[in-house]
Amino acid sequence: MGDGLVIAGLCKNFGGIQVAQDLTLTLSQGSRTALIGPNGAGKTTFASLLTGILKPTSGKIVLNGHDIGSLNEAARVKAGVAKTFQITNLFRDLTVRENLRLPILEREGRTHHTFRRADGWPDIEAEIFRLLQDLDIQSLADRPVGGLAYGQQRLVELALTLAVKPKVLILDEPAAGVPSTESHLIVEAIKRLPPDLSVLIIEHDMQLVFEVADRIIVLVNGAILMEGTPAEVVANTQVRELYLGAGHV
Ligand SMILES: Nc1ncnc2c1ncn2[C@@H]1O[C@H](COP(=O)(O)OP(=O)(O)OP(=O)(O)O)[C@@H](O)[C@H]1O
Ligand SMILES: [Mg+2]
Repeated sequence: MGDGLVIAGLCKNFGGIQVAQDLTLTLSQGSRTALIGPNGAGKTTFASLLTGILKPTSGKIVLNGHDIGSLNEAARVKAGVAKTFQITNLFRDLTVRENLRLPILEREGRTHHTFRRADGWPDIEAEIFRLLQDLDIQSLADRPVGGLAYGQQRLVELALTLAVKPKVLILDEPAAGVPSTESHLIVEAIKRLPPDLSVLIIEHDMQLVFEVADRIIVLVNGAILMEGTPAEVVANTQVRELYLGAGHV
């Protein structure tokens, strides 16, 4: 049942405009897929269709054999499809550790017990440590989030998302707004993600895409123009002309 996320014939219309045109693709378990395309191509719309923020006009979304297309946002997160949280969801005055405790307690249904034990829950503290260790940010555990560099805050946000134990992780422009001096933090964190997780990366930064993706899907006007390895995408003249431009690759 580990065949990943299968998307078949997904369509979405906004009024008369088709922003998703018969999208058919598979995010297999452990794959690192980048979704690229010009502004307005429909990348974020596609992500919203996967997370349940938007309802498709037609089409199917099947995760490991289960049709999740009719589930609402919260149920899809529980089923295993997660998108990175926005930094605005972090509590700036709380430490990294305190921020991470919240989604784990929530996932475990233990929120009403939070203040019962002065020493916290040893299993939860151990999980927080592992999450931080996986992203190599354990040294930040007791720092208030508000005092961290922007790139570091994005990593905390990523750890928060991983705390819900997703099977499919969607990163919509993970490096957007991150100063170039810190963008290597994002690249390294993506490289350290659990190997069995399917990752969909929506990103304009081609250098980042080529560093982390094993497959690239090019979306233009809501339709898949091509899909292939990074080398195949770079070699495609149509892609070069339409999107990448001579200066990018
Ligand atoms: N809620 C909405 N109602 C109507 N049209 C919308 C809505 N959301 C997006 N659109 C339109 O759908 C198209 C796709 O937008 P989308 O945000 O998915 O593009 P994108 O590929 O993510 O672009 P960018 O690279 O700028 O983030 C655009 O033409 C946009 O104007
Ligand atoms: Mg977008």
